[in-house]
Amino acid sequence: MGTLTHQEASRTYDRIGTLQDTQRFYEDHATGLVIRYGSFDTAESVFEFGCGTGRFAHRLFVQCLSSRSRYRGVDVSPEMVRLSRTRLASFSSRAEVNLTDGQPQIDLPNESCDRFVSNYVFDLLSHEEIRAVLGEAHRILVPNGLLCLSGLGSGIDIPSRIVAGAARWTHTLFPSLIGGCRPVDLLPFVADSDWCVDHHFRVTAYGVPSEVVVAKRG
Ligand SMILES: C[S@@+](CC[C@H](N)C(=O)[O-])C[C@H]1O[C@@H](n2cnc3c(N)ncnc32)[C@H](O)[C@@H]1O
Repeated sequence: MGTLTHQEASRTYDRIGTLQDTQRFYEDHATGLVIRYGSFDTAESVFEFGCGTGRFAHRLFVQCLSSRSRYRGVDVSPEMVRLSRTRLASFSSRAEVNLTDGQPQIDLPNESCDRFVSNYVFDLLSHEEIRAVLGEAHRILVPNGLLCLSGLGSGIDIPSRIVAGAARWTHTLFPSLIGGCRPVDLLPFVADSDWCVDHHFRVTAYGVPSEVVVAKRG
């Protein structure tokens, strides 16, 4: 199954812009679990891969981050970077958002953050890229730092399996129509000795399936 190139992803999300926030109707349930089990109240340095419009980061600042904690997000879309900088303007002394070229490499030193977040971004990446991003997550997280992931799931009942199947089908034929996203099973990517899975959920909201993984860096 082909994935969008980084240039295609960048153009697609430049076009999508604020419409990305309409996906909250199913994303918020899963990202709420990320917030609940990611222990962000004790986080000092949070990194987010593919921050979109900055909605998740804004929730973190408003709901749980302490006044000492810092946030850094990256995205491949200039429009998403602009939107998240605008959204996080009132936290700008502690929040930084950067444009990337879409490569998995992260411009941060080893063991420099304690939360690595990525919501509904692995859905766009090839399996090889997912492994590379996880390698970077492992490198930049401190020991016992938390990897916090969510994404489209494969479904837990007949309606949500039909939705997942429709998403796969649309992705194969018209990937841009669905933002380059398809369901990706996250668990197999963290089922090795690098990670200790603390929490794993398969959920649905309005028939759309999601998966959530919170894992400790080994
Ligand atoms: C489905 S959206 C999810 C956005 C946000 N995380 C959310 O949950 O609302 C995917 C986001 O990942 C970004 N993205 C896609 N490929 C990327 C890559 N290789 N590196 C960084 N960001 C990427 C897109 O520009 C977009 O903002």
